[in-house]
Amino acid sequence: MIQFKSVIKTYGVLRALDDVTFTVNKGEFFALLGPNGAGKTTVIRLILNFTRPASGQILIKGVPVSQPSVRSSIGYLPENIRIPVYLSGKEFLNRHAQLCNMSGRSADIAIDRVVELVGMKGREKNRTGTYSKGMMQRIGLAASLIHSPEILILDEPVNGLDPIGIREFRLILEDLKNRGVTVLLNSHILSEVERLCSTAAIMDKGKILVKDTVSSLIKDGETLEDVFVRIIKKN
Ligand SMILES: Nc1ncnc2c1ncn2[C@@H]1O[C@H](COP(=O)(O)OP(=O)(O)OP(=O)(O)O)[C@@H](O)[C@H]1O
Ligand SMILES: [Mg+2]
Repeated sequence: MIQFKSVIKTYGVLRALDDVTFTVNKGEFFALLGPNGAGKTTVIRLILNFTRPASGQILIKGVPVSQPSVRSSIGYLPENIRIPVYLSGKEFLNRHAQLCNMSGRSADIAIDRVVELVGMKGREKNRTGTYSKGMMQRIGLAASLIHSPEILILDEPVNGLDPIGIREFRLILEDLKNRGVTVLLNSHILSEVERLCSTAAIMDKGKILVKDTVSSLIKDGETLEDVFVRIIKKN
């Protein structure tokens, strides 16, 4: 579903990505891990075609991300989503539906579907200014799902959520996993990644150091955090 082939991304003299190659398969939950500045958000920005690589190829279902048609297969939840406080959750979702060229009955049906999916039924008419951070994040996720994308990109999705908010968010993502959605996320909360993700890549300084199934990365008695520390320290 997502392919990076020998991707180099530079900012001036800095190589933010240095020959990055990886594939995310259909239905996979793929975690990009790495210390601050490793290049995780850069990978996401390239997938969304917000920025261009210096060289290499980025393909979604075999099509270069520079093709506008690619965007309709992707849902994106940015880090720290900001929603105008005067809008209700439903109004915010309606704006998103319009951006996806939906209106009238089809928009209403899509909104009902995603509100239900993220567990916000009954709260969607309240102003987002009254929402907790976890509820904001759930409405943000609902917006990213409005056009039923096959691929979901999440930048630090549970950052700043309390343990209950994190758990609720995980349950929603598990539901999406059962529906066959492909997810690429980056997170520093390794215990969550360990629970949710099938595959992980650990990056540092613009390079992917390892990529494997989470179960193969973890050796006897280790946690994913142990693996992370071991690999980053060795680099
Ligand atoms: N617009 C930009 N201009 C210049 N340098 C940038 C820009 N965006 C990112 N960088 C640099 O590229 C490198 C990778 O940054 P990136 O944001 O991808 O890291 P990250 O892995 O997402 O880190 P974090 O965990 O802190 O979010 C860093 O050295 C960063 O300073
Ligand atoms: Mg980042």
